[in-house]
Amino acid sequence: MTINRPDKLNALNIQTIEDIKLAFEEIYDDTSIKGVIITGAGEKAFVAGADISEIAELNELNARNFAESGQEVFSSIENCHKPVIALVNGFALGGGCELAMACHLRVATANARFGQPEVNLGIIPGYGGTQRLTQLIGKAKSFELCMTGDMINANQALTLGLINYVLESPTEALAKCEEVLNKIISKAPVAIGLVIDCVNAVSNEQENGYQTEANGFAACTKTIDFAEGTSAFLEKRKPEFKGE
Ligand code: COA
Repeated sequence: MTINRPDKLNALNIQTIEDIKLAFEEIYDDTSIKGVIITGAGEKAFVAGADISEIAELNELNARNFAESGQEVFSSIENCHKPVIALVNGFALGGGCELAMACHLRVATANARFGQPEVNLGIIPGYGGTQRLTQLIGKAKSFELCMTGDMINANQALTLGLINYVLESPTEALAKCEEVLNKIISKAPVAIGLVIDCVNAVSNEQENGYQTEANGFAACTKTIDFAEGTSAFLEKRKPEFKGE
């Protein structure tokens, strides 16, 4: 999936958020789609934030709805049972950093820059940035990035645990995304979906993640893929998973 507004550094306007929402509805439903790589068009940016020309028009009444609708779309990415990888090829600022963080993994090019610069505009992150950044890199660094608005480069993001890999060029980064995605989609799909649920349970205070894990573990034993995976190991052959 390519966010395609390169003349605006792929800034997310309301239409783009709606397009992402519709795309993910299709990704959820279409059994021929096994995984997703999200990137930005052009050479400069993944996504340089929410569209500031739209943000400038917000007031207290519609701003809450603006934030909540974006949060809902980003949660649908995070909770998707198919692996979603962000290929961060340049600026990932504000909503762009938030979009990347909603994905399950992040692969960046060496020119990638990450940041939550909203305080420069007199606002705070609204698409989950304060929460996901803190979950990924801890409070000290999350406070620093959200309060200074500073950008960090790809190697700093790697050191902080914000991203999974840094590759020199977009071509190498895409190859890395495909390598990881192909590895994940060769595993049992039901198990992958349950891993996603369990890891996400950590950030849901209403949910007991250990319980979610035990329930998921038990649910796996009802699948054909569980029988296939265990038999294949015992028979010393490669498993062929069906997603059932
Ligand atoms: N919303 C709307 N338009 C944006 C945008 C955003 N978040 N980010 C970039 N653009 C637009 C610029 O206005 C410019 O449009 P124009 O050519 O019609 O004037 C175009 O994209 C190119 O951006 P420009 O600022 O000229 O590129 P740059 O290389 O000089 O700077 C950035 C790149 C990313 C440092 C700079 O664009 C920036 O700071 N963007 C805003 C980042 C931000 O605050 N994001 C959080 C928003 S909540």
